[in-house]
Amino acid sequence: MVKVEKFYITTPIFYVNAEPHIGTFYTTIVADTLARWHRLKDESVYFVTGTDEHGEKAQEAADKAGMTPKEYADSVAEKFRDTWDRLDISYDDFIRTTDERHAKAVVDIIKKVDKNGDIYKGDYEGLYCVGCESFKTEKDLVKGKCPEHPNKEIEHVKEETYFFKLSKYQKKLLDFYKKNPDFLSKKYSQEIINRVEAGLKDLSITRRSVKWGIPFPLDKEHVVYVWFDALTNYISVLDGPKGDLFKEFWPADVHVVGKGIDWFHSVIWPAMLLSAGIELPKRVFVHGWWLVEGQKISKSLGNAINPIDIAQKYSTDALRYFLIREMVIGEDANYSEKKLIERINGELVSDLGNLVYRVFSLAEKFEDEIVGEDELSGKLDKEAIDKKMDEMDLAGALEKVWEFVRETNKYITIKEPWKLKGEELSNVLYNVLEATRIIAIYISPFLPQTAEKIFRQLGIQPEKLEDASFTKFYGNIKKGTYLFQKIETE
Ligand code: MSP
Repeated sequence: MVKVEKFYITTPIFYVNAEPHIGTFYTTIVADTLARWHRLKDESVYFVTGTDEHGEKAQEAADKAGMTPKEYADSVAEKFRDTWDRLDISYDDFIRTTDERHAKAVVDIIKKVDKNGDIYKGDYEGLYCVGCESFKTEKDLVKGKCPEHPNKEIEHVKEETYFFKLSKYQKKLLDFYKKNPDFLSKKYSQEIINRVEAGLKDLSITRRSVKWGIPFPLDKEHVVYVWFDALTNYISVLDGPKGDLFKEFWPADVHVVGKGIDWFHSVIWPAMLLSAGIELPKRVFVHGWWLVEGQKISKSLGNAINPIDIAQKYSTDALRYFLIREMVIGEDANYSEKKLIERINGELVSDLGNLVYRVFSLAEKFEDEIVGEDELSGKLDKEAIDKKMDEMDLAGALEKVWEFVRETNKYITIKEPWKLKGEELSNVLYNVLEATRIIAIYISPFLPQTAEKIFRQLGIQPEKLEDASFTKFYGNIKKGTYLFQKIETE
């Protein structure tokens, strides 16, 4: 029997203090596109997302809304789920940190870490940013404020706490990075290595003054620090280390995260796992931030853009295409509706939409059998696309697919099929229809609705990557409407 490859991919779990916006949507479509790509390759894929519901920030948001933290978390978790459903996110499970299965896994991991002698009681005195849910040093601040949350006051915390011996894992982590060069995200790896080399301080993993959290199993006066709680979601969603899903899918193949939380995933999470004796994930993929007019999207700045509004205006696929195509791997990107419209009118309407419309109009009228010789497949660089997808350079992969779309358009312009008849016309139609079928396969992870429309117009069922080569044409053309509408601007 051929062994089926498995692929386990996660998004960060989202804080419930804010509703979904294009930043959180971006992380989610990156993971969704990769999950769909690996399904297209016939791998056994598990793709999870969820919500991070405990901690001071969630508590504050609930107080403000006049609800209990649980009621509040219920409403926002539902919002995330509903938004992802409406935007074609193909997640297999949705984990909430208020799920019982999650609390069990957190207690289990803490007991393992404790058994390994890595937890001790002490006092913490220092700074805390509720926006990041993270301890800070003076060095991290700019003019006394957290650079990511300049509108929030930094807290001075002085309380009894339990520490995790993070410092003990410095060498082990550095060895692990060396032996697994793909684990850290290239663009940010040196920064992580430098910081780990500079020394690791033990981490406070409980809060006494915070009530909204998982009770700390070694001392019920404390709750588990939100990050220790949240990171465990990646195994609690697999029902913990004894679960069947865990046996099938762990270790994670990729954790997709934004650059602001790289440290937690590249340093704290592997240290926790080393301590608990659990295999480490294979890769942390870090992307940059979406900015609006040069500023990171955040609740406090009130500059969030709701992906549902944009999708309703322009279509989900148009938004997915824009976000994926616009952000260069590892860099920040600026959101602008003007650029979105430019890409819709250029790449989606003129390149892809016109191609499909022109070809299908001609093919629908052609009454003989469509047969021909492959003259086009050499223009598709499958290897390059595969490589880019492996590197998670989604924008680069999409660009390569579009090169083929443009080559196919060029072929039509040169061949002028509207002037041809009989065998000659059949040959051109054959080439362009097969090219279109293959384009539909390649775009299906990125633009699932558009791919489906093309398959429907070709009169065939959705196909897998192994079908992406020229064969005998076997469709049954039913021309539909335009794939994308041109957006009129003044
Ligand atoms: N709850 C933590 C993650 C815990 S994972 C164990 C958290 N949540 S968050 O809601 O603030 O952000 C989660 C992720 O959303 C970020 O890591 C990032 O992937 C994505 N983004 C949030 N804002 C973003 C932008 N403005 N731009 C791009 N991605 C952004 O951190």
